[in-house]
Amino acid sequence: MGTLCAMPVTETQVLDALRAVQDPDLHRDIVTLGFIKELTIDGGEVSFKVQLTTPACPVKEQLQYECEGVVSAIEGVTAVKVEMTAQIRQREMKQDDLIPGVKHCIAIASGKGGVGKSTCSVNLAIALAQAGARVGLMDADVYGPSIPLMMGAQDEKPYTQGNKIIPIQRYGIHMMSLGFLLEEGQAVLWRGPMVAGTIRQLLADVEWGELDYLLVDLPPGTGDAPMSLAQLAPVAGVVIVTTPHHIAANIAGKSVQLFRRLNAPIMGVIENMAGFACPHCGEVTQIFAGTTGEELSQQLKVPYLGSVPLDPTVSEASDKGVPSIIAQPDRPQSAAFREIAGRLAQQASIMSLTRKDLIKPGDVPTIPKFTPAE
Ligand SMILES: Nc1ncnc2c1ncn2[C@@H]1O[C@H](COP(=O)(O)OP(=O)(O)OP(=O)(O)O)[C@@H](O)[C@H]1O
Ligand SMILES: [Mg+2]
Repeated sequence: MGTLCAMPVTETQVLDALRAVQDPDLHRDIVTLGFIKELTIDGGEVSFKVQLTTPACPVKEQLQYECEGVVSAIEGVTAVKVEMTAQIRQREMKQDDLIPGVKHCIAIASGKGGVGKSTCSVNLAIALAQAGARVGLMDADVYGPSIPLMMGAQDEKPYTQGNKIIPIQRYGIHMMSLGFLLEEGQAVLWRGPMVAGTIRQLLADVEWGELDYLLVDLPPGTGDAPMSLAQLAPVAGVVIVTTPHHIAANIAGKSVQLFRRLNAPIMGVIENMAGFACPHCGEVTQIFAGTTGEELSQQLKVPYLGSVPLDPTVSEASDKGVPSIIAQPDRPQSAAFREIAGRLAQQASIMSLTRKDLIKPGDVPTIPKFTPAE
């Protein structure tokens, strides 16, 4: 007989080949995870989409490269077209959900004041938006709202549509703060139930719409605001910000305990002001002795999300109402914020999948070690 005709490439062959590609964080192959969409085969030409759980996925390029590799190795395949997309998984809905359109509500907390919660909230929110996500930022620091100033929006007054307040937009972020709603110089004397009422309003009376991530900047400590938030909102996870001082690390431990008791899972620890980034050459020098963020995360058994160096340009930029990641995108702290945002998105995906029982609780991987950008 003559030469054998090339066998047509089948869907099974392609999917079997793709099973060799693992998501390094979720520890499952991408076929089992349901990431492969719209697979079409036309002769030797194969095309499909890989739908990740977040547009901010830090391993997007690596996965695309591996997919192209394993499929083009199949006999008979002449061309491979892979499109990387993302669809953030919908959380389970509770009844009387105050923010039904929000997929991941993430709180930024600390035990101690002034460690950089608001700075982290603002820069991480922008980093997530720059990666293609729809991001909201809620200032839950009802005692001293600082988000409007940091975002250069202190003169903005939100308007209402129907009975909902429309968030202010800046740098691609939809934000709301009590600072926008108070008259200038107006002081509020807080009692516990008022804090809960205000947090409820910031959630329910604001037209948050459809968001991939709503970051919530909390006041320091374990008082009424974090308690109210955990009770009123479906908090997907809490990020604890700490600094390299012993005492700050100790207090961070107390916050972790509080949120665990409130049944809000800890997404990880960010170490801020971890070393000094020279404003001239960018080199980072360690200054403080004490527990590092990495050691702390090991002690507390929570993921380590990364470190942000201390850099005078961070507060300069923030005082001018331009977050550091916009004003100084090439400085080490901006690279750190982008990396941490990627890990946060990863961690949020891992947690939502864990809740969906795809992954056993013991499987949740530790986040890889952070190496500061060059
Ligand atoms: N990495 C950094 N390098 C230099 N300055 C920083 C850094 N992070 C934060 N800061 C500065 O430290 C001060 C406190 O930061 P920030 O307001 O973000 O802290 P916070 O934890 O939100 O404080 P509070 O507990 O009062 O809400 C600000 O002046 C901010 O600009
Ligand atoms: Mg703050």
